[in-house]
Amino acid sequence: MGEDEEGEEYLFKVVIIGDSAVGKSNLLSRYARNEFNAHSKATIGVEFQTQSMEIDGKEVKAQIWDTAGQERFRAVTSAYYRGAVGALVVYDISRRTTFESVARWLQELSTHSDTTVARMLVGNKCDLESIRSVSVEEGKALAEEEGLFFMETSALDSTNVKTAFEIVTKEIY
Ligand code: GTP
Ligand code: MG
Repeated sequence: MGEDEEGEEYLFKVVIIGDSAVGKSNLLSRYARNEFNAHSKATIGVEFQTQSMEIDGKEVKAQIWDTAGQERFRAVTSAYYRGAVGALVVYDISRRTTFESVARWLQELSTHSDTTVARMLVGNKCDLESIRSVSVEEGKALAEEEGLFFMETSALDSTNVKTAFEIVTKEIY
């Protein structure tokens, strides 16, 4: 999908998926605009942001897509995944059910995209240590089992947000 024309510019589509309220939209707003919203509303439909980064001296642009975790607010699934070369599969470390849903999200991803998609499992809200309900080890184990990268993040305090997006993009590149 990357293009190497005179401008030597690469554009990669990355999708963010996971249950409602795991923090997908806030991960994106933290990464693209350095903003966090403590009272963000559920996403309806699809939004995206383009973010540039420099890899090996070249400008690489990631077009990052964010959609609703709630089925009733989701746009057409096949269109959402079309052309994606990277994916962040997000759960909330303080809500176990969101971790249990990861398998279903991976299933949907594999149905709608090809196997070469760079995938990262993201345990978000790692600032909520006191109410953690999924251990780091469990996250790591699932990622290993499924062949995914793994990282815990916090959109609230910025932990690993940039790194998570950049690892996926670098892998694609
Ligand atoms: P949908 O759009 O419904 O799929 O939800 P979403 O995954 O986009 O979640 P969203 O980013 O809207 O965040 C849901 C709630 O979690 C909001 O109240 C956020 O402020 C909060 N939140 C998001 N990320 C973090 C985080 O890293 N730490 C904490 N403590 N709260 C977070
Ligand atoms: Mg959202």
